[in-house]
Amino acid sequence: MLVLTGASGFIGRAIAAALRERQPPDLAMTLTGRRPSTDAQYVSMDLGDANALDAIDWPSVRTLIHCAGAPGRGDQDFAAKNVETTRNVLQLIAPGQLSALVLISSTRVYGWPPGAESLQLDEEWPRRSETGYGRSKLAQEDLCREHADGGPLTILRPGPVYGPGMAPENLLPSLVRRCQQDEPLEIFAPRTHTENYLHVDDLALVAARAALESVSGTFNVCSDDTLDIFELAELVKRTTGGQGPIVDRATDAPYPRLSFPNGKVKRAFGLSFRRLADHIHELAE
Ligand SMILES: NC(=O)c1ccc[n+]([C@@H]2O[C@H](COP(=O)([O-])OP(=O)(O)OC[C@H]3O[C@@H](n4cnc5c(N)ncnc54)[C@H](OP(=O)(O)O)[C@@H]3O)[C@@H](O)[C@H]2O)c1
Repeated sequence: MLVLTGASGFIGRAIAAALRERQPPDLAMTLTGRRPSTDAQYVSMDLGDANALDAIDWPSVRTLIHCAGAPGRGDQDFAAKNVETTRNVLQLIAPGQLSALVLISSTRVYGWPPGAESLQLDEEWPRRSETGYGRSKLAQEDLCREHADGGPLTILRPGPVYGPGMAPENLLPSLVRRCQQDEPLEIFAPRTHTENYLHVDDLALVAARAALESVSGTFNVCSDDTLDIFELAELVKRTTGGQGPIVDRATDAPYPRLSFPNGKVKRAFGLSFRRLADHIHELAE
């Protein structure tokens, strides 16, 4: 049996769709989340409550895609939402039981020395997050590594993920809306803050294939779109034809220009990534 946690969420919904496209017909699949669903394969449960998880026959689980968690927005209790939920699930699975364990981690696990100006954060780069969210993703990775104990494990590290179904309050849809109304785009972030933007269907494809084909390893799941905040605003403006100005309120806080090499994931999965500009077009239509 395959279990996908977080299947009611933005990324989990896309992974469930990718699994269904590729799923061998004889593979039993269970999807979990807390929100109710009418999906026949779906079980609603709070993974934070270790005593309430018996709706799944855990000893028959052979493949686990762990996507449940709190994404890095807002002031949240990441330790409970990301770390405890992971611990609760893994303790129901015996050592050596899984033929594939896939964790949706994050590029936020990486840290860097003060004063760095420009860094390439590949999969070997030291993990040392300064944020509560990053530390919770790091702890999730450690729990999974400990559980796998050298057996099958796939750690996927995406940056910000965009695509159909993303929350409208996210930066990208907000910028597109403002451009459509020719409103100014005010930039408040550190001037050199760069992010890698990844389409949700590309992440879903990698997660589904890692699970179904048992591809182990740690991967930056990063596209070719690494942009600083001004480059992002300019791309949205150019693509939507927005006429509002870009207003520079950026801080000069020291923040290295980060890039995330993606050769390893491209080689392992033979992928080419979707382009952010194409999705901005779709959002603007
Ligand atoms: N979005 C991004 O840009 C991004 C980037 C990198 C990594 N990630 C990682 O990807 C994962 C999914 O993120 P997302 O953007 O899809 O977030 P999301 O839309 O908020 O979905 C989170 C999912 O986790 C479930 N969940 C959370 N706490 C739970 C609990 N205690 N018990 C059971 N289910 C629980 C949610 O269930 P209900 O909503 O039904 O309660 C939902 O299905 C997270 O681990 C996040 O750290 C996200």
